[in-house]
Amino acid sequence: MKDFKNKVVVITGGATGIGKAMADRFGAEGARVVIAARREERLQEAVAELNSRGVEARYKVCDVSDLGDMRALADFAWEVFGQVDVLVNNAGIAGAPAAVVDATPDAYRRVFDVNIFGMLNGIWAFGNRMIAQGTPAMILNVSSETGLYVPGPMMGGYSASKHAVRAISEALRLELPEHLQVGVIYPGIVQSELGGSPEMTSIGMPTDDFVNIIWPQIENGEFHIVSHPWAKDYAAENAAEIDRAFDRYAPHFEGDQKYDSKWLANQAFGRS
Ligand SMILES: NC(=O)c1ccc[n+]([C@@H]2O[C@H](COP(=O)([O-])OP(=O)(O)OC[C@H]3O[C@@H](n4cnc5c(N)ncnc54)[C@H](O)[C@@H]3O)[C@@H](O)[C@H]2O)c1
Repeated sequence: MKDFKNKVVVITGGATGIGKAMADRFGAEGARVVIAARREERLQEAVAELNSRGVEARYKVCDVSDLGDMRALADFAWEVFGQVDVLVNNAGIAGAPAAVVDATPDAYRRVFDVNIFGMLNGIWAFGNRMIAQGTPAMILNVSSETGLYVPGPMMGGYSASKHAVRAISEALRLELPEHLQVGVIYPGIVQSELGGSPEMTSIGMPTDDFVNIIWPQIENGEFHIVSHPWAKDYAAENAAEIDRAFDRYAPHFEGDQKYDSKWLANQAFGRS
């Protein structure tokens, strides 16, 4: 999708950070924008700023972890603008860093509720309506480079949630009709308010530079949308380690096709 003029773009977590920078860019390209998050005053500020630059923008207060809120957001977008062409499931939280053995179930659940169920609620509230609309459309899910590999200790919950965003996006791409594309975005550290940490607003890639890198990939309808070069090295290290394990303990052998799980799964679920 190259032309966003008059397209309608809904962005969760769109009042700050990456979501706001994407709202700015979609708006600058002529799109009409709906941003959604929990804090009304931040949404009002962001919409006022977008409006002052001539962008037709509206907001809706919503908690992405609540399916009812996401359905109300979809109703709002269709009522106000009559269509939705792009959904960006961007809202996310970092959660408190904790070793897996020490983390509390509630802390993991909250991260999964926002980062995984928040995205799923977006897909459930908008997906079938975007399919029924029948026009070219796009769902962009914001994962993280920690959805490609685990960067270090203390980030198990967040990283697991972002791996799930990638896996669900991959499943979605196999299932959706051609007119509804999926993309998954893997930011490395970008200046934002993530985790409420003051350091995060000053280290990492400035949001506008980040959006400039991902923009052509969005226009070209890429599935894997990348930005931070070192992520490639760490993902490759992971793949190489898995390769070594297979080469040593489970190499191919004559007749191993009967254990090809991907082929078997596709036979079972009618896809090839
Ligand atoms: N900044 C980074 O370094 C980085 C790196 C990788 C991935 N990401 C991902 O990018 C996305 C955007 O984060 P950001 O870095 O711009 O941080 P941010 O904190 O500035 O933005 C996240 C937004 O999501 C909103 N939000 C959080 N929980 C919500 C909920 N339950 N319902 C509705 N809105 C909610 C917040 O209010 C905020 O506006 C997140 O999914 C994050 O995990 C960020």
